[in-house]
Amino acid sequence: MTVTKHATRYLGIFMASLFSLSISVAAPLSTERQATLEHLLIQDCGSCHGLRMTGGLGPALTPQLLADKPRESLIATVMFGRPGTAMPPWDALLNEQEAAWMIDRLLQGVTP
Ligand code: HEC
Repeated sequence: MTVTKHATRYLGIFMASLFSLSISVAAPLSTERQATLEHLLIQDCGSCHGLRMTGGLGPALTPQLLADKPRESLIATVMFGRPGTAMPPWDALLNEQEAAWMIDRLLQGVTP
């Protein structure tokens, strides 16, 4: 019995590691999806952060201003928003890989 229990536990760990592996080596986003995200970034994010990301209702998201902020926490801000502020969560539209792509685009500098 204990052997089976252990086997089940190890299988669980194995499956979990497979899952996290599939996230870390996720296929690159298709060119089409990247174009959609770029559009979202300028139209939707830009409606608050400014078309040139120089700020509006939301703060400026220029490479200079984002440079010394932790990338992970910026990704989390995009996914989950900032409760109590106008920054909404985007996890219904974006997965983590896509949110990371958006942050990396912002770090490179986005202009329409
Ligand atoms: C309805 C307005 C609104 C929209 C739309 C919006 N944001 Fe925001 N965003 C804000 C506000 C306001 C803040 C500042 C929150 C605070 O005070 O902490 C913010 C903060 C952020 C931050 C953190 C900046 C920092 O310096 O820490 C990031 C990154 C960000 N937004 C990215 C995005 C992205 C990417 C999108 C589009 C997917 C987006 N935002 C859409 C209003 C918005």
